[in-house]
Amino acid sequence: MSALIEVEHLSKFFKSPRGMVHAVDDVSFVLEQGKTVGLVGESGCGKSTLGRTLVHLIEPTAGSMTFEGKDVTHLKGKAMNEFRRNAQIIFQDPYSSLDPRQTVQDIIQEPMRLHLHYSKEELERKSSELMDIVGIEKRLRMSYPQELDGGRRQRVGIARALVLNPKFIVCDEPVSSLDVSIQAQILNLLMDLQDEFGFTYLFITHDMSVVRHISSKICVMYLGQMVETSDKHELFDHPLHPYTKALLSAIPTTDIHAPKQRIMLKGEITSPVNPAPGCRFASRCIYADERCKQPVELKEARPGHFVACHRVKEINNL
Ligand SMILES: Nc1ncnc2c1ncn2[C@@H]1O[C@H](COP(=O)(O)OP(=O)(O)O)[C@@H](O)[C@H]1O
Ligand code: SF4
Ligand SMILES: [Mg+2]
Repeated sequence: MSALIEVEHLSKFFKSPRGMVHAVDDVSFVLEQGKTVGLVGESGCGKSTLGRTLVHLIEPTAGSMTFEGKDVTHLKGKAMNEFRRNAQIIFQDPYSSLDPRQTVQDIIQEPMRLHLHYSKEELERKSSELMDIVGIEKRLRMSYPQELDGGRRQRVGIARALVLNPKFIVCDEPVSSLDVSIQAQILNLLMDLQDEFGFTYLFITHDMSVVRHISSKICVMYLGQMVETSDKHELFDHPLHPYTKALLSAIPTTDIHAPKQRIMLKGEITSPVNPAPGCRFASRCIYADERCKQPVELKEARPGHFVACHRVKEINNL
């Protein structure tokens, strides 16, 4: 298996009147070609910031990233243009991310107009092909986004991301604003597209059932940091970090023979502004003790399974 993207010690801080917001703070991980990494964590933990940094919608504060082995941490001009073709993003809310004054056809054609020298016929052929691929009826090509239902709008958002034949796509909560009945259709479309075109996805969600459905590997984020990462099955079978255990305990279950105890998180959420050096989950963790004031980093706790917790061995009898 080969790595498409390697991220090392990546950080993104924002200046705020109260101090530096550590939105993404020293994260490292690898995205394998053709696979889906699910990125989960509560609202505000830095998922979107990480996703946007990976596609260069925003620039990193520190750290490095490579794409197909080449350093792409800081890009300009032609190199940035080329990278943009390869790395795209699908947003949560297609309503606010699609220009209401453009028709479906214009929206899909725009990236081609900016990046490729196509004739009018080529533009029309290619956009009609894309509408087929993502399942939008041709009769809708002159419609405006606000005339479409949520599912179709998101299909337009997906088509726009595919126009330039990218290799990598960040899916930032692409089904979170859709009706449950439509969510499965869009997830299946994204998985079919991956089978057909070999896309590599970073799939961002706060919904553990969605991540279970779509990912091969999972990264759990808490307040700007990765706290646990492993293969999906390993993570669902053996969650090791106290925060991941709480997240998983909140998934509704339909199996009456496996009643679960929901772990409720209490305590204040630590502020992402100038955070103290220790474990950021400490204020909500029932296992927190003196050691947890020391900085914590990801370590292999089981084969291929990395956890950032000082007490991971005792808590899990490893
Ligand atoms: N442009 C920005 N300026 C200042 N702070 C920001 C900006 N974007 C995000 N943040 C802050 O960074 C943190 C992470 O936000 P975000 O990446 O949107 O989280 P998530 O997608 O997990 O909900 C939050 O504290 C948020 O308020
Ligand atoms: S390092 Fe300490 S506070 Fe943090 S998750 Fe582990 S036990 Fe809890
Ligand atoms: Mg977000």
